[in-house]
Amino acid sequence: MKNTLYPLLLTLLAIPASHASQVEVQHWWTSGGEARAVEVLKSTWKGEGHQWQDFAVQGGGGKSAMTVLKSRALAANPPQAAHLKGVELREWAGLGFLRDLGPMADHFGWYQAMPPVVRQTLSPTGSLVAVPTGIHRVNWLWINRRRLAETGLPAPTDWASFIQVAERLKQQGVIPLAIGNEPWQLAILFEAVALGEGGRDFYRKALLELDPAVLTGPDMVRVLQRFQQLRSYVPLSFVSLKWNQATTLIETGGAAMQIMGDWTKGELTAADYRPGEDILCLPTPGSQGIFSYNIDSIAMFKVRDPLQMQAQSELAELIMRPDVQARFNQAKGSIPALAKVDMKGFDRCAIRSQRDFTQAEKEGNLLPSVAEGMVLATPLQQALMDVLANFFNDPNADAATTAARLGRVMRSAKG
Ligand code: GAL
Repeated sequence: MKNTLYPLLLTLLAIPASHASQVEVQHWWTSGGEARAVEVLKSTWKGEGHQWQDFAVQGGGGKSAMTVLKSRALAANPPQAAHLKGVELREWAGLGFLRDLGPMADHFGWYQAMPPVVRQTLSPTGSLVAVPTGIHRVNWLWINRRRLAETGLPAPTDWASFIQVAERLKQQGVIPLAIGNEPWQLAILFEAVALGEGGRDFYRKALLELDPAVLTGPDMVRVLQRFQQLRSYVPLSFVSLKWNQATTLIETGGAAMQIMGDWTKGELTAADYRPGEDILCLPTPGSQGIFSYNIDSIAMFKVRDPLQMQAQSELAELIMRPDVQARFNQAKGSIPALAKVDMKGFDRCAIRSQRDFTQAEKEGNLLPSVAEGMVLATPLQQALMDVLANFFNDPNADAATTAARLGRVMRSAKG
């Protein structure tokens, strides 16, 4: 039955495919690499005679965009399409705001075209509620090759050697770690320490299952102590630094290293730096073999106007095309959200990401990024990020006290 729903819908809508469609898309992709990726969608869409109304909300990580989206939805004026991902996608779908794309997925075979983790993430209610634009890897360490060479040390593979390299850089007058003081940036750093110092099983128990004993146990204390140690390697401009400004620091060599998802690679490419050559890409210390994923997606809000529905369907189809996936992800820094991908035209870091994704998928080492909203309900996510940001910013904070606090705060936020 489901397989005939979409063609039936088209007939009922009786809209000629040649009709020029108009679509409004909300997103927060405004930095260099992000904007180039949006331009791939926009120019392809407009090249087919349609109109694209861009609703960009500044702010890396998307917190501002989600606030604006909530106010628009409550005013019964949501955009037709919005960049919405992970848990927030699940929450919006649960509230009944999102169009069910299941009939299209059945008709076009999209479920089979996506890796299982993508299909599961985008079908929180069992049916597809968004189309994926790409799969970002979060546990990446980016290093300015020249600055690393000047230390005379090898690239760090665990946190002890990271500290060694950072100390040497500091002695040489180079900022070791480029990062800004935004809670979401700090959460990505903490996640990398949790993966590298605590390991895969610790990460799962503490941050996915919120196991109280693990959240407050000795491993968490050790992870928090390592996290706190990194405070002495951040730039003086730390308080106001945006993630893409941190990337500019490692491009110019003002700083040597950045720990950030591979949207950073989109910035490098946009500024004509060669990922894997000028700036090295490595799994974050101790997380080799693990792929911490952040799946970006575009959801379609329920609309009554058949013309707007048709435009949504056409946009969803466009995003799912292999050639559009390739061009979008080459600009964005992620890898295509398709099960079979031709990595021709991708840089060496993307090729490594794709290979590591496939390996991690086989070995059960695909882990959802907590920092990137793939796991925890929004109040829990916010509570965790607040505890971590306060801890990192307080020079007198005590790791054991903070671990105990983590346990209490996560228990109460769970309700
Ligand atoms: C993430 C988003 C990425 C990237 C990043 C920086 O949340 O999923 O696509 O753009 O924010 O803004």
